[in-house]
Amino acid sequence: MRIEQYCIAVAATAALCGMGLGIFMATNHDFTLMPAHAHLNLLGWVSMALYGLYYRGAALLRIRLAWIQAGIATVGFVTMTGALAALLLTLDPRFEPLIGVGASLSLLAMALFLFQVVIESRPTRIRDTSPLPAEGTFPVVEHG
Ligand code: HEM
Repeated sequence: MRIEQYCIAVAATAALCGMGLGIFMATNHDFTLMPAHAHLNLLGWVSMALYGLYYRGAALLRIRLAWIQAGIATVGFVTMTGALAALLLTLDPRFEPLIGVGASLSLLAMALFLFQVVIESRPTRIRDTSPLPAEGTFPVVEHG
């Protein structure tokens, strides 16, 4: 599987879960889990899809870094939205540190993404190894 396919597949899975939760909230008139729904859709669907779309178009110099970035982003949003949902349902403050872990991983993933983007945007130097013409000679240009 390619990195962009992974990101888009995870994003679409998050969208399915997020939209399902949205429909559940709307039909039951129970909006307890609204923050979890919003973060699942925005960190899971939107952010992961944007990572995937970027990786699809980029000539990746550091593919392993991209996989690490996407993996951290996945663990981050799953941990954060899961712990947030658990906190909202139980009101147990013991879930708060877990939300912090998920949020920190999401932040780290975004920082790694920025690092990747900066690396990609640096101009690459192509070394020209073709022999130079001998001194006093000119390249022959053929016309028509
Ligand atoms: C089937 C699709 C979806 C359904 C049925 C749905 C449903 C809902 C519902 C019922 C609420 C609570 C609204 C309220 O309390 O006034 C809500 C809030 C929210 N949704 Fe969705 N949603 C869907 C998709 C999405 C997507 C794709 C995103 C983001 C990409 C999203 C982001 C949000 C956000 C940010 C809020 C919080 C809004 C606020 O605080 O006022 N939702 N959604």
